[in-house]
This record gives sequence, structure tokens and C-alpha cells, in this order.
Amino acid sequence: MKKFCVIGNPIDHSLSPKLHNFWFEKNKIEATYEKKLLEEKEIPELIESIRNSEINGVNVTVPFKNSVIPFLDDLSSEAKKTNSVNTICVEKNKVIGHNTDIAGFELALRYINYDVKRKKALIIGAGGVSPSIILALKKMECENIYLTNRTFEKAEKIKETFKDITIQKWGDIPEFDIVINATSVGLNNESFDLGLNNVGNNKFFYDVIYNPSETNFLKDAKLNGNKTENGRMMFIYQAHQSFVLWNKVLPKIDEETIKILR
Ligand code: ATR
Repeated sequence: MKKFCVIGNPIDHSLSPKLHNFWFEKNKIEATYEKKLLEEKEIPELIESIRNSEINGVNVTVPFKNSVIPFLDDLSSEAKKTNSVNTICVEKNKVIGHNTDIAGFELALRYINYDVKRKKALIIGAGGVSPSIILALKKMECENIYLTNRTFEKAEKIKETFKDITIQKWGDIPEFDIVINATSVGLNNESFDLGLNNVGNNKFFYDVIYNPSETNFLKDAKLNGNKTENGRMMFIYQAHQSFVLWNKVLPKIDEETIKILR
């Protein structure tokens, strides 16, 4: 029986076990997937259990996407570019870190046929997932990428890697076509007051959060007449890419898959 897990802190909210266990069953793969609440100091031991095949693959979520990196043998080029790992597997006896959030975001936009080419994007938040969104937007030839974060220095730190993005002061909203909430604001029904109610009705509001399915960020945008989308498909696609890396099997993404996360 193969063993997989997702590590994070907190981890209770994670729907990864539900999705992966569903796909294991559908594809008749003998495996289990669980969530593990981890302390930072337990990371080396966890990586060792991947190295000695006690665990066959791991997803990494907040706040460890960056802190697992020193313990890995190598990184995919995309994990390197973003300094962010959300999937760990063993390849040729080496423990490798991948980043499937990038493809997750790209495929989620393609799923709804939203084209960012030559558009202006505003990203709110400079946490763990933001570099992946920036890289995905760049790959899709987004023209201007603005980044704003409550703590200005964290946005500046990301600009060291992505030199052509523009940092906006918190509350200073540039003209944009798509705005992405990449913060944790909304997980517990909070809102931020960024003046986004005054931007008109022809924008696209994307929230990385999928649980709750409609944050106040999306609710307000919709009330103002804007197009909105939550992070459910991004979540499904990043999991799909991890599943393929581990099992070399392409699970189906169909209505039943989408429904189990509702
Ligand atoms: P981490 O920062 O550990 O990577 P994360 O969940 O990936 O964790 O990121 C949290 C993001 O949500 C950060 O951009 C954070 O802003 P700060 O860098 O200023 O902390 C943002 N965030 C969390 N609570 C917020 C709030 N009440 N208002 C605005 N931004 C908030």
C-alpha cells in the first residue's frame, strides 16, 4: 500500500485527502492519502521518510512551501524560479521538489477561457502562492503585473526575483483587468478595505480561496457587476499534476470530481 500526505500548519481545512483518495479509488490504485499537522522542526524527519520509501509522495502547503527546500536533493526548474515547493516525490533515488501551483493557476484560467495576454493583473498578497501566480501570468504573456501587500517589504522581496513587476503601496490601486486575491483574507469571512468597490463593473476578480466558495472579495465584486471565480479549479489542477507525477496516471476531472469539493 502506497502512502501519501499533505503537510502544513494549520492543515484541518485541507481537501487534498478527499480528492486524492477519490482518484485512488477511481483508478484502482492501492494507496492512502492523509493530512499531517507538522512543526517546522519535524521537516527533516519527514523528508527522511520519503527518502527511505515509508512515504511515497507529499504535498506541501502553508507555511512550508519554502522551508522544505533546504532538505531536498533537487528542484524542478519551476520550483527553483519561484522558491516554492508544493509537491515532493522520489526520482532516481533523489528527493525532488516540484511546484504544480503554477500549472494549477494557468489551467484554471484556461478552463474558463480567460486570456490574460496583453492584460493588466493586480495580485493582492505576497505570501507563499504569489510567486507561482506571477510566473503563470508571465508564461501566459500578461502585459503588466502589479503586486500589493500589507507588509510592503514582502512584496519587495518578491520583486528581487521578478524584476519587471510593479509594487503598489497597500491601498494604491492601479488600473487593472484582473485582480487576484492571494492572501488568506476571506478564509474566515474577513474583508479588506482596498477601495475595490470603486473600480467599475468590467473586471475579473479571482480568489485563490475555494473554501468558503464565495469570499466577501468575490461577493462584493459580483454585486458590482464584475466577473468572479474562486480557486476550486486551481486546487483541482494542482492536485491533478501532483497525482500524475506520483502515479503516472491521468485521473479524470469531471463533474463528479468537482462536486466532491462542494
Ligand atoms: P505566508 O505569509 O506565511 O507565506 P500565506 O498564507 O501564504 O502565508 O500569506 C498570507 C498573505 O495574506 C500575506 O500576503 C499576508 O500579508 P502580510 O505579508 O502583510 O502578512 C496576507 N494577509 C493575512 N492577513 C491579512 C490581513 N488582515 N490584511 C491584509 N493582508 C493579510
